[in-house]
Amino acid sequence: MRSLILLVLGIAIGAIAAFQVGSVWHQRDAYPRGVMAVMQHHLGALHQEIVGNQCPIVQSALHLDWLQRMAGAIPGALPQYGHDEHFQNFVHRLQGEIRTTQSPPPGECAALEPRIRAIGGACEACHAEYR
Ligand code: HEC
Repeated sequence: MRSLILLVLGIAIGAIAAFQVGSVWHQRDAYPRGVMAVMQHHLGALHQEIVGNQCPIVQSALHLDWLQRMAGAIPGALPQYGHDEHFQNFVHRLQGEIRTTQSPPPGECAALEPRIRAIGGACEACHAEYR
């Protein structure tokens, strides 16, 4: 009887420990995924501006500011690539494409569209190798 109680207790403690390790693992991924999700949101918003044929400079600039800030957070969010020059080059490429689009934002959808495609291309280039 005693050994049965110990066995049940052992299973319960093991399950709790596994759950905690699981949630720590989840939190560890939350930051890089969050950074990526915010970029996705603002790139999507810029895409929607183009689809709706409404590309006011002030609004585009806001989304581009967010993109630039989040792009700057990529190295800190994925520190495992801190010494990977190839990865850092993809970050710089993205930052460069955003900077070109920011200075200043075109204010016309026809001109914004190829810029947004270039930014999206910089996302995809890194994903093709690292995601
Ligand atoms: C320098 C490399 C790099 C660049 C540039 C990059 N990403 Fe990512 N992205 C990654 C990596 C690595 C992952 C996988 C992260 C993970 O699962 O922990 C990822 C994952 C994602 C995800 C999935 C997140 C999830 O919840 O699983 C989205 C969405 C995303 N990126 C969007 C973007 C967008 C939008 C851009 C450009 C504005 C971009 N990324 C630029 C490396 C990059």
